[in-house]
Amino acid sequence: MSNINPMSEGNSRHIDSNQIGVHEKLPALVNRHLRHPSQRPFTEHTVQAFAQAQAWLGDWQGPLILDACCGVGESTTHIANLHPEAKVIGVDKSAHRIDKHEHYSLEQNNALILRADLNDFWRLAVQANWRLTKHFLLYPNPYPKSAHVQRRWHASPAFAEIIKLGGQLEVRSNWQIYIQEFALALQVAGLSAQVNQYQNEQAITPFERKYWASGQPSWQVIAQL
Ligand SMILES: C[S@@+](CC[C@H](N)C(=O)[O-])C[C@H]1O[C@@H](n2cnc3c(N)ncnc32)[C@H](O)[C@@H]1O
Repeated sequence: MSNINPMSEGNSRHIDSNQIGVHEKLPALVNRHLRHPSQRPFTEHTVQAFAQAQAWLGDWQGPLILDACCGVGESTTHIANLHPEAKVIGVDKSAHRIDKHEHYSLEQNNALILRADLNDFWRLAVQANWRLTKHFLLYPNPYPKSAHVQRRWHASPAFAEIIKLGGQLEVRSNWQIYIQEFALALQVAGLSAQVNQYQNEQAITPFERKYWASGQPSWQVIAQL
């Protein structure tokens, strides 16, 4: 187990937002991103990280799980131990967080944690025809200010790539509106989603543990893509 202090990640006891419900512009934003995929050039470090993922997978045809925004990788290790039949890849852009992943113990060699920008990594995975069995997005940055809606994954160009990767998508957040918005974005894309409050005996990420310790519930959206 890790000795990382999740409280050092900042004090987020509650979500402070000027939004009281789903963002009114969300359906229009989602439609625009679905129609106009990103053409941005790829960052070199993510191209290299993706090549590393491809080399690690080799000719693997079995189940593939992506843990997007894996932070320190605690959830990646947990998911990999829970799914010994699968290969699990954790991706986070923060070198500072990624460097902490060796604190968690992997029962077998079925997880890889990479530093990469998901805006590019997801697009590269779609281009390489990856099909996921499960896709986790646990406690992504909520960007709760209404003006920052486009920084949320479901209102960004990345959303179009996320849904192309298939599998069972599971997103968790301590901000209910984020989860409601994610479900609405899926609905706009023609996909059905299930929203509920999420509880478990064991927290599997530092942020999850931190929120529960301060009395904040988690919300979850699950969709079959
Ligand atoms: C609130 S933290 C949650 C981390 C972890 N899932 C947890 O629950 O402890 C959000 C994470 O998303 C990562 N992130 C944000 N934007 C990203 C991007 N474009 N590519 C990859 N990771 C990103 C951040 O580096 C950060 O580690």
